[in-house]
Amino acid sequence: MPRPLRIAPSILSADFGRLAEEVRALERAGADYIHVDVMDGHFVPNLTIGPVVIEAVRKATTLPLDVHLMIEDADRWVGEYAKSGADLIGVHAEACPHLHRTIGQIASLGKKPVVVLNPHTPIEAVRWVLPDVAMVLIMSVNPGFGGQKFIPSAIGKIRELRALADLHGWDLDIEVDGGVKLDNIAPVVAAGANVVVSGSGIFGTPDYAATIAAMRARCAE
Ligand code: DX5
Ligand code: ZN
Repeated sequence: MPRPLRIAPSILSADFGRLAEEVRALERAGADYIHVDVMDGHFVPNLTIGPVVIEAVRKATTLPLDVHLMIEDADRWVGEYAKSGADLIGVHAEACPHLHRTIGQIASLGKKPVVVLNPHTPIEAVRWVLPDVAMVLIMSVNPGFGGQKFIPSAIGKIRELRALADLHGWDLDIEVDGGVKLDNIAPVVAAGANVVVSGSGIFGTPDYAATIAAMRARCAE
């Protein structure tokens, strides 16, 4: 049974001077999730937003908030992000020495646990939490910035993970994040991803609804 395709615009590329307006525009444009990139300036070389901004985004939309934590010491913070309105909470395997416990903590807060893999990290590194997560986020750029170039090795990784999930019958969403645009979304979905993040690929276009519709159509071809 094919998994529903979900488009998750990343607000990292939004106009932060009009953030609530931009989020409402994404909801009107047919987005499925709002992807929120949290960066602490330590785990990644950039600093973005924290729980107080997620509270504001929460008030602007009913869409699920797909919060991507690019932070150190996620254990200490997942409760704050759950409280601020996150629905899915993504933590980097590379930043969680006790990943199994962190995933359990997110689930115990009633949120969907998501494990995130940097481009170099093998699927094997998270093999023993895969049955416990709602989604795996495969990074197709090195985290920290929007507007970067898609790393092609992500396609093989998606294919490998989808095959593993099918082999074990896991109800697993696969999300891809970084450098995905209209002209390369189809092979990403064909490889087995069903949740697609796009920041500059959507915010860099004049009509968000037209872009999202075109992305869906391209994947349905
Ligand atoms: C990068 C972030 C991505 C990024 C995607 O660290 O995790 O979500 O915002 O932006 P684009 O689609 O422009 O690569
Ligand atoms: Zn992200």
